[in-house]
Amino acid sequence: MGKLIVVSNRVGPLKDTGKAGGLAVALVDVLRDRGGVWFGWSGQVSEEGTFGDFKIERSRNVEMATLDITKADYEEFYAGYANRTLWPILHYRLDLAEFDRPFEQGYRRVNERFATRLRTMLDPDDMIWIHDYHFFPMGGQLRSMGVENRIGFFLHIPFPNPDIITALPRHAALVRSMLAYDVIGFQSQRDRNHFVEYLVQEAGGERIDESRVMAFGREVTVKAYPIGIDTEGFAAFPATVEGRRQIQRIRSVLGPRKQIVGVDRIDYSKGIPHRFRAFERLLEDYPENRGGVSLLQVAPPSRSEVMAYSEIQRELEHLAGQINGRFADVDWTPIRFIVRGFPRKALAGLYRASRIGLVTPLRDGMNLVAKEYVAAQDPEDPGVLVLSRFAGAAEELRESVIVNPYATEEVAASLQTALQMPIDERKHRHGAMFERMMRNDARKWANDILADLAG
Ligand code: G6P
Repeated sequence: MGKLIVVSNRVGPLKDTGKAGGLAVALVDVLRDRGGVWFGWSGQVSEEGTFGDFKIERSRNVEMATLDITKADYEEFYAGYANRTLWPILHYRLDLAEFDRPFEQGYRRVNERFATRLRTMLDPDDMIWIHDYHFFPMGGQLRSMGVENRIGFFLHIPFPNPDIITALPRHAALVRSMLAYDVIGFQSQRDRNHFVEYLVQEAGGERIDESRVMAFGREVTVKAYPIGIDTEGFAAFPATVEGRRQIQRIRSVLGPRKQIVGVDRIDYSKGIPHRFRAFERLLEDYPENRGGVSLLQVAPPSRSEVMAYSEIQRELEHLAGQINGRFADVDWTPIRFIVRGFPRKALAGLYRASRIGLVTPLRDGMNLVAKEYVAAQDPEDPGVLVLSRFAGAAEELRESVIVNPYATEEVAASLQTALQMPIDERKHRHGAMFERMMRNDARKWANDILADLAG
């Protein structure tokens, strides 16, 4: 059996430092199973860029191999095409998408450079697994270099319907390059269906069966593989020293009050302003919650070189200030808005100490915060997940309180229902979701895709 080569823009860490996302932990696990390489961007910008030496880190049978990119690569590939063109389009925001020829050229150039460097470490039996929108064309580029290995692709973010995708200039070339993969995975059935609809309507594709599609002369497996978390591992975090410390800190300031928690990168797809307004509406429509319920929003900054991102941060600061000015009292602050990240064990404590997990993206591939919130709850006295119907997670977490994040009044009413939900109902809903998440964890997700890729 050959090795596994995982490719993604962000790579690592190989060791669980407490800061590693759940996805990193799961990928290292599957790399350990068969030995392999995790290949991608070093996070650094340098003059030699992708022409420089590999930066190698090794831990037993797993190697991390990364390359720098140049300043032009960063601007055109990462901040440009990936995050100013593809990200907004794939999140249904044509109004924010920028189309710029140099962005697209930079994107293809960086993909091709990464493909060229990947090829040098490839043995005939290796399997390649490419992740996310940064690297759509890499499979096609590898094929045109003569690579015949099995290559899989997984998209972590949404895939919209053909009406939206066709607004992307040269969309056909992008989708065509994806047909070079042997397996193409999506987060949800909805995204998977959009992709197949595109192939049928725009590319003369043909559905062979439930999971096989024929287009551009190739037959490929196209399926939904909803990503999971390390459910068991995360469920143990609230009991760690760091987890307990956060629970204690929150309980000592809350007293008998209840807390709603939100955790998101600052991104317009996350619906954070809508969430603030829904919380304000809760205080307006159900005044008994004034002084008794607060919202903790943790929001690490993200991609701040892109204007749409810096703007939304300012908007949120303004909105939180306005709502606090209107409702706060000497001993109660309605919204605590924290613009930084927390280590994962601390987050688990924040989740455990919060009666409601409020996850209201306007679009999201999956949303792992929703799953982590459920995993962190005390099974004997669990909180309630209030979840946007537009998150991929809503297909699986059916026992959450599902809301339309645009409908402020409805979200406020759902928050009120969640705040008043009797313990038996909370336990019943939590138990069903937790059990499903134990079965469908990150390990199973990766193994399912790799089994299909092995063919
Ligand atoms: C999403 C994407 C990931 C990305 C992450 C953080 O989850 O699916 O590919 O790494 O956001 O964004 P960043 O631009 O900081 O890598």
